[in-house]
Amino acid sequence: MPSATTPEDAYTAAPFVPARGGLDALRRAAADCRGCPLHGPATQTVFGEGDADARVMLVGEQPGDQEDRQGRPFVGPAGRLLHRALEEAGLDPAEAYVTNAVKHFKFAQTEPRKRRIHRAPTLREMTACAPWLARELALVEPELVVILGATAGKALLGSSFRVGQVRGTVIERDIHGRPERLLPTVHPSSVLRADDRDTAYRGLLDDLKVAARTLGNG
Ligand code: URA
Repeated sequence: MPSATTPEDAYTAAPFVPARGGLDALRRAAADCRGCPLHGPATQTVFGEGDADARVMLVGEQPGDQEDRQGRPFVGPAGRLLHRALEEAGLDPAEAYVTNAVKHFKFAQTEPRKRRIHRAPTLREMTACAPWLARELALVEPELVVILGATAGKALLGSSFRVGQVRGTVIERDIHGRPERLLPTVHPSSVLRADDRDTAYRGLLDDLKVAARTLGNG
């Protein structure tokens, strides 16, 4: 278990990931993950959820404030926007599997009871958490992985990933030893932060429509 003196490059969830079992066993084990220090301040692990046989897996960055409290991915404002965009694009959210690159909420809080401010996970924290995502991919075996934003992209495709260069295109890569088809797009919270939300939303929608067409739904 990492302590204050554990070097960052020794962070890893690997010892907590069970050798066998399905998604439920994985979710139960993830609740006790102490592979990096993010578990300390967070309320709970927020594991992926959705259809275990989903054709499409959506990968976000990390749980936000609402997700941390409720223990479920994408249930806050970004999640509501994502659900709306999925439906509009012709992808049924109930038939998707939704998860995050990092399973604990990372935040800064200046005083107790003050608002918790999201902090982006480091590459080390993403790498530490990667064994959970690798097993989710191996178990769900999605036909398409939608990468939501830069953190998920870096976690899956490496630190040089830039969402603007590849968004809306299907790319094929070996990820954790499995050939995957991946479609990067922006993170839904970037739409909420955009000066021109309508244009940013249309961009997300157009990318998700590519995902729908790739799966033969569009
Ligand atoms: N943002 C994410 O990346 N994931 C969530 O679950 C919620 C917000």
